[in-house]
Amino acid sequence: DVEAIVAAINSSRIFRYLTKPWESEELRLTLHRAVEMFQLTRENARLVEELRHANERLSTENAYLRGSAGPHEIVGDSPAIREVLALVGKVAGSPATVLLEGETGTGKELVARAIHTASPRSDRLFVAVNCAALSEGILESELFGHRRGAFTGAIADRKGLFEVADGGTLFLDEVSETTPALQAKLLRVLQVDVRIIAATNRQLAEEVKVGRFREDLYFRLRVFPIRLPPLRDRLEDLPALARHLMRRIATQLKKPVGELTEEALTVLARYPFPGNVRELANELERAVLLSEPGAPLTEDLLSEHLQAADGGGSSGVLESRTAAFEREQIDGALARAGGVKSRAAEELGITYRGLLKKMRRLGM
Ligand SMILES: Nc1ncnc2c1ncn2[C@@H]1O[C@H](COP(=O)(O)OP(=O)(O)OP(=O)(O)O)[C@@H](O)[C@H]1O
Ligand SMILES: [Mg+2]
Repeated sequence: DVEAIVAAINSSRIFRYLTKPWESEELRLTLHRAVEMFQLTRENARLVEELRHANERLSTENAYLRGSAGPHEIVGDSPAIREVLALVGKVAGSPATVLLEGETGTGKELVARAIHTASPRSDRLFVAVNCAALSEGILESELFGHRRGAFTGAIADRKGLFEVADGGTLFLDEVSETTPALQAKLLRVLQVDVRIIAATNRQLAEEVKVGRFREDLYFRLRVFPIRLPPLRDRLEDLPALARHLMRRIATQLKKPVGELTEEALTVLARYPFPGNVRELANELERAVLLSEPGAPLTEDLLSEHLQAADGGGSSGVLESRTAAFEREQIDGALARAGGVKSRAAEELGITYRGLLKKMRRLGM
């Protein structure tokens, strides 16, 4: 019954129909193919199953990462950090270009990632490129790609990062370190569907003034500027930050860590941290490495230059009387200046920075 046979073949219950008399060669080949087909189908099913498992694992891991205080959490409750968080919340939903300015170690990359994660692009790539680390030629081909053979070493076609980050976020770190030629190129390419977040630890406006950075590019980048405060201006965040970093370090080093003592915290609070949160993290990591497992972190575990910034300790009578006198004078001047520090500094005959430094030292 020809119709029945055709129907069976079409529903693939029969692999192939051979008519008699069977030729042994043809029969062998057909059986061989059938076995091969069977194996492929089975392998395919296995891979699909494996993929399903991997996806399940990934989604559990993602749920875990979302639920826990992840490594990308922005810690701090000071007015300065709250303002940063509010700005992040406002800009994340839009594709607007963001310019992050702040001293080294203030958390620019952390904030850039936070913006990407909170944006509708979070399932696309976050691509970071450090403009200072690459020479101009390499940076250009990194950003815009190249054809094989375009220069020595270009052994294959390569997609540029603008293309790789398509639909996602491109993080241009240390953007002030680009050459004029590259700045011109960037200006032309900024229209594409890539969310740009640029970061710099210089004052970009100053760079424009002295002619090191194109003004038109500056205006394109600073659509939505966010300035990250230095750690010394938000000392109230220090305890929470230290706790957060210590937890992170303990996990990384797989070492139980005790609490930071009050004295150690006081020493930390008197140090100006030019390297900001990164320097604090490094300092704590060193202390954790030196500490006995599970023991509290005491001030003697901190680096000498931190301990030296500790205003000399509380033992000297002259010192403590001088400090009390200085506090009094500063309080008085601040009261007369209505709390305006720059005016108080003027009255006291010191610079604004000098006043801030002194107040920090005096624990004010
Ligand atoms: N508010 C914060 N909460 C928690 N961790 C922070 C915070 N700010 C910074 N960090 C941590 O400090 C370290 C330095 O941060 P990040 O790399 O983002 O700084 P950066 O501004 O990009 O520095 P640089 O200019 O030197 O590149 C990171 O380990 C980061 O996780
Ligand atoms: Mg950085």
